[in-house]
Amino acid sequence: MLLKDRVAVITGAGMGIGRAVAEAYAREGAKVAIVERDESSGAAAAEQLKAAGHEAAFVACDVADRESVLAAAQTVRSTLGPIEILVNNAGITRPAMLHKMTVEQWNQVIDVHLHGSFHWLQAVVEEMIAAQWGRIIFTSSSTAQNGSVGQINYSAAKSAVLGMTRTAARELGKHNILVNAVAPSAPTDMTKTVMEDPKFAEMRAVQKKLHPLRRSPELEEVARPYVFLASEMSSYVTGQIVSIDGGSMLVR
Ligand SMILES: NC(=O)c1ccc[n+]([C@@H]2O[C@H](COP(=O)([O-])OP(=O)(O)OC[C@H]3O[C@@H](n4cnc5c(N)ncnc54)[C@H](O)[C@@H]3O)[C@@H](O)[C@H]2O)c1
Repeated sequence: MLLKDRVAVITGAGMGIGRAVAEAYAREGAKVAIVERDESSGAAAAEQLKAAGHEAAFVACDVADRESVLAAAQTVRSTLGPIEILVNNAGITRPAMLHKMTVEQWNQVIDVHLHGSFHWLQAVVEEMIAAQWGRIIFTSSSTAQNGSVGQINYSAAKSAVLGMTRTAARELGKHNILVNAVAPSAPTDMTKTVMEDPKFAEMRAVQKKLHPLRRSPELEEVARPYVFLASEMSSYVTGQIVSIDGGSMLVR
């Protein structure tokens, strides 16, 4: 097992990619904290892992709220032990063309993706330094490189996450704490609007035709590089962005 007894926090793990990562980590022997704002999905995800014989806990948390993050980190420590792996995964979208975007839409997205990732980074860093071991995975997106029409808030946050990744990698490397980012692509609740809206049918057809692998991924295969980045297998990898998109970045 690649993550035997490691304590892992995965934010936004009630559904989508976060949930798949939590399952993959649990299968590799990690003790998994499902950190989630939505109580019903978070509790269900933790129960499913426990029913399968894994060690897991649901910890309610709004990552955008500093106090909520600090309290959640404390709960994880007292329930599962010192935090060794952090996956900053929680995310939302609030799309609008830039001339119509409200300050509220801007702030909501920045608060969750950027401030939430920073709150969790600070919440765990001292115990990782004390242990001289840690793995931190930030979640960026192809929109950091390409931009995204109607998502200036989201692409700005995902670009900023890359700056955090590289700076944290440089500051924390001497403590054997590796910091990397992922840029995933997977069918989830978040992408449902684009995937199902008839307005985007033509764009989807073109993307499918050009996609190097000609298919969407299973969530389980999207989760595998997260296992690599959390394990000893990645012991000489830090400050990188790993695209988990079947090569679709190549044909945009
Ligand atoms: N799906 C994709 O194709 C794709 C592409 C690029 C990047 N991403 C990123 O991957 C991550 C996961 O996305 P997903 O597609 O699985 O989305 P999703 O909508 O399926 O899941 C997001 C999870 O985050 C939780 N969440 C939202 N706000 C929260 C908060 N304030 N506090 C705690 N939890 C919160 C939600 O309840 C949900 O469980 C996100 O950061 C997203 O931006 C996804």
